[in-house]
Amino acid sequence: MAIKYVPYFPTTVSGQAVLDNFVRTQRILRYRESDKVTERILRGMPLYEVTEQERVGDEESDNMIIHGECVSACAYLKEHGIKVDLVYIDPPFASGADYAKKVYLRRNPLAAKAIQKAEQELEDEELKAFEEKMYGDIWDKEKYLNWMYENLMAIRSVMSENASIYVHLDWHIGHYVKILMDEIFGEDRFINEITWYYYNKMAPKSNCFPRTSDIILYYSKSNQYIFNTQYEQREEKKKQLIRKFVNGKAINVRDENGNVMYQDSYEKRIDDVWKIPMLQPADKNEPVGYATQKPEALLERIIKASSYEGLVVADFFGGSGVTAAVADKLGRKFIHADVNINSIQTTRDRLKANGANFSVKKVQDGVTLYRNPIQTKDAITRIIPGLRLDFTIGSMWVGSITDSTYGSSPVYLPDLMDSSSRVLDIVTLNRIINDAMPQLSPNVKRVIIYYIDIVDRQELDDFIKDNNDTVIEIELRDLKELLDNAILQDEVEYTLSEDPSNMVDIFTVAIKRFYSDRVGHKITEFNQKAMANSKKKFTPIEMSLEGLEAIEMISLDCTTADLNAPWHSDSEIKIEKDSTVTINGRKTSDFWDGTIHADTKPLRMKIRNICGDETITNFV
Ligand SMILES: C[S@@+](CC[C@H](N)C(=O)[O-])C[C@H]1O[C@@H](n2cnc3c(N)ncnc32)[C@H](O)[C@@H]1O
Repeated sequence: MAIKYVPYFPTTVSGQAVLDNFVRTQRILRYRESDKVTERILRGMPLYEVTEQERVGDEESDNMIIHGECVSACAYLKEHGIKVDLVYIDPPFASGADYAKKVYLRRNPLAAKAIQKAEQELEDEELKAFEEKMYGDIWDKEKYLNWMYENLMAIRSVMSENASIYVHLDWHIGHYVKILMDEIFGEDRFINEITWYYYNKMAPKSNCFPRTSDIILYYSKSNQYIFNTQYEQREEKKKQLIRKFVNGKAINVRDENGNVMYQDSYEKRIDDVWKIPMLQPADKNEPVGYATQKPEALLERIIKASSYEGLVVADFFGGSGVTAAVADKLGRKFIHADVNINSIQTTRDRLKANGANFSVKKVQDGVTLYRNPIQTKDAITRIIPGLRLDFTIGSMWVGSITDSTYGSSPVYLPDLMDSSSRVLDIVTLNRIINDAMPQLSPNVKRVIIYYIDIVDRQELDDFIKDNNDTVIEIELRDLKELLDNAILQDEVEYTLSEDPSNMVDIFTVAIKRFYSDRVGHKITEFNQKAMANSKKKFTPIEMSLEGLEAIEMISLDCTTADLNAPWHSDSEIKIEKDSTVTINGRKTSDFWDGTIHADTKPLRMKIRNICGDETITNFV
């Protein structure tokens, strides 16, 4: 439940009249008719508890990775008086895509034979990788734009007076979002519509011109924004008139005979068409295995043009961490937020390898409890089978739970993908009581309604008392409790030994066995799907008995055993997808031998499995 609500920007929905000026508004937003958005904007941004999960490097650093939704991250920043000087966002595009991350089994260091077998299998990408859903990108336009409106309002509320914002979109929705930007920032705060032309994209054959560009909308908060002209090499040198400024006017320079003079020009000012290649899977350095990862060159241009060293650069849909990584390299401070745990882990590892200083924070809002909303739903489905969306009561999921006291109880859950159903309000409760409950079988004794957020519990209880004239009991429950049950912790067997004769690496933790119920489920699911769909002969993925190939990272905290203290990684080993190890952020070409070392006594150990779940074991 939100602690409180933080106002967005003072002038809120009244500015939305702009859209009502359109005559053909049928397919364009009509916010004024959308009570829910208006209500939510007027209520403010929900502020949740934010906990610090980890500190990397300098304890004093203000740089942040926030695991949470854009609006929640902004509420946190606003509450703490933190302003940002430059924003780049690349939100999901409403493109209809459902992004997935390839998950790679690593080599099992304990099984020599298995390694050999794995080597043969490693040649076939499909056999060693399976997919994890990262986030869904399937929206209808109206929902998407309402959602974007809230996000942009939230972002604007934390931008400093001189700040600029770059919103990265494409042909699907960019033209609609430009209207939102005009409303929120003002038409006169529009600076550029940048075309990112990724000329190296292999566009599929189609009966249209190949689509090889995205748009980036560039606006500022006020007319006092930072802009540093950027230059690039010309493809061909150009003969250019030599000019000079006299009394603010550019005039041609002439030689003693009065002839205009020329010089060879190799550089030109960068205009609003940016020719920057898209990352290719074959690129050796940049790709970090995150779908939709953007090239560093793109961010470098934005950050150099619109900020100075020491200013704060934020990306509230941070993905692979490209904005944070480039900001850090260029001496700026960074804030990275993302709702998806894979983004948080990828960015954390990327920045750690770059030697950055930062903290990792988590918004305790119930939605990011699990890896991301889609996977949260998958996890819940394991407890409440057969969940389906029911639109008669707004967009909620409906299922049932059976126990010996009540028999089968219908269960209603908010649709995590739809931010408008997060708060359990009187309207939804009314629909459940008056539309859904009369349809239930006479044997039903209880109805369970899960919520992510409520504003006033007493009000809901009173409403139930006054309106439920059936004998069916209505129980309101916090979704967090359900999720706690959905997550099975991974299990690890290990030995911890000490060899004082060593100069360094006195302590060794050797992993003997690792078991992850979650990875096991994913593999079974993958095998079944592949068997059913594969045209060629399919060899199912098998885990060894030791299960070490399901480990992606191990970190030892030798500083504190306090479970509530932020994590302090004193020694860490990451097993990359090609099974080589990165030790304390330093890449090597070695394979993992199943151990991790430390100079001082480890107090706790964190293991991240290849799907991203992290399990902490205490040594004391
Ligand atoms: C297109 S990707 C960003 C890619 C990024 N620019 C990069 O180069 O790696 C969009 C990201 O938004 C995240 N996301 C989706 N909904 C979000 C929300 N409500 N708040 C924060 N992040 C969200 C997704 O998890 C995803 O990582």
